[in-house]
Amino acid sequence: MDIPSLRQAVEASPDNIPLLLLYAKALTDAFELDEAKECYEHVLKLDPDNPKAVMGLVNVLQQFGKYSEGIIRLEHLKSRNPTMAHAWLLLAELYLVDEQLKLAKEHYARACELDPKLRNPDLERRMGLSPATDEDAKKKARPMDIGGFAAGAVREPEEDEPERFDGTEALKLEFLDKREKIDFSSVGGMEQLKETIRMKILYPLQNRELFAAYGKKAGGGVLLYGPPGCGKTLISRATAGEIDANFISVGLHQVLNMWLGESEAKLHGIFELARQHAPAVLFFDEIDALAADRKDLRTSAGRTLINQFLAELDGNISDNKDVLVLGATNAPWHLDSAFLRPGRFDQVIFAPPPDEAARSEILGIHLKNKPAESIDIDKAAGAMKNFSGADIMAAVDTATESAVAEAMKKGKLVPISTKALIAAAKKTRPSTLKWFDSAKNYALYANQSGFYDDVLLYLGMKK
Ligand SMILES: Nc1ncnc2c1ncn2[C@@H]1O[C@H](COP(=O)(O)OP(=O)(O)O)[C@@H](O)[C@H]1O
Ligand SMILES: [Mg+2]
Repeated sequence: MDIPSLRQAVEASPDNIPLLLLYAKALTDAFELDEAKECYEHVLKLDPDNPKAVMGLVNVLQQFGKYSEGIIRLEHLKSRNPTMAHAWLLLAELYLVDEQLKLAKEHYARACELDPKLRNPDLERRMGLSPATDEDAKKKARPMDIGGFAAGAVREPEEDEPERFDGTEALKLEFLDKREKIDFSSVGGMEQLKETIRMKILYPLQNRELFAAYGKKAGGGVLLYGPPGCGKTLISRATAGEIDANFISVGLHQVLNMWLGESEAKLHGIFELARQHAPAVLFFDEIDALAADRKDLRTSAGRTLINQFLAELDGNISDNKDVLVLGATNAPWHLDSAFLRPGRFDQVIFAPPPDEAARSEILGIHLKNKPAESIDIDKAAGAMKNFSGADIMAAVDTATESAVAEAMKKGKLVPISTKALIAAAKKTRPSTLKWFDSAKNYALYANQSGFYDDVLLYLGMKK
């Protein structure tokens, strides 16, 4: 579509994000860079972490020569989306023009690891790497093997190199979550989990003396496991908002960085940060990356890092008063068994796919503020059996897009319809089924001390 008609459509619905993104992209392609920049910035006001808008904006900034702003924005995006290969690649380019060759190489290597298709001989030449062959790339593309950086880009710790760990300010910047707080009202369903969390931290904070009388403190550790997209990350962030605590979030890529030689000191620093900022929720996302029972890691840091983590968690090192440690994983079977011993995470909780009532709630949350008044939410929820929260969100996106397309044709707002939602649901394969295929085997054959009982219950294989 051409720029004038997009502009017209944007004027008709100025807060329509997908439409704004189309418009901004068209402006960029036409080198209307100032306007494109404005448009992306507008999207980011509406949706501060929108990955497409960040990538688009950085692309424009790059053309203005504003590399540092681009880097800052991308680093932030990357910390939210650690597996977004394109973000790593664009960062590599920016670091390269910013003459930070080492960082450029590391980021390029990670980008190729996440998506081997992103290999770019031209960029490799500019970074002074000898272009790798396709075979090499395939070998190096094993996910999670952070030892497997592509040609020349491995960060080997040098012998006399000082610890990269550099104190609280840096940790604060990297880990303390500054985003606007969300609370449990943004999380559909998960009632039982919400109550468990309240019991561990909210009520003890509110009724200190009562809990003290029973020898109970606020805080502790809860491990969440379950299929991807079912709200583990979301509810962790919402917990901080719910109890008005600080949220300290350690994502996958930060954990992986720890393997690159900053490990124990940094991990200790992170726990200290949480203690200093109590009440706090300290969240380790995809904790299996930290705690994996993996023998193939090239570093021997594995064992000591795990021990460090457990000691911090046990409160052996310092009191974890008013700190709730949450860990989340989609792959509990990869966890080192030391993590699951009693007294570590005091509770291990299964986060199942949303049931029908929860699906209705999630639909309500994601349709809020959209033209969708007359939708039969319960009917749509009924068509989304086995859907994860993320699947539901994707179906809403698809239905929204078709409403936008129609709206542009008609030149007026067209509400999202129940029919479009159900059609979108039919086209989506629920993503949780695959997870249960794996989980079932572990639940049946490796169900030590009933760890997976909840999975069996959910599958109706146990009463
Ligand atoms: N219970 C829920 N309520 C509202 N949205 C949800 C829910 N579960 C998932 N979502 C949506 O799906 C996205 C992905 O969920 P996430 O919490 O990252 O899943 P997980 O960490 O379990 O893989 C969330 O950002 C949210 O938009
Ligand atoms: Mg998650």
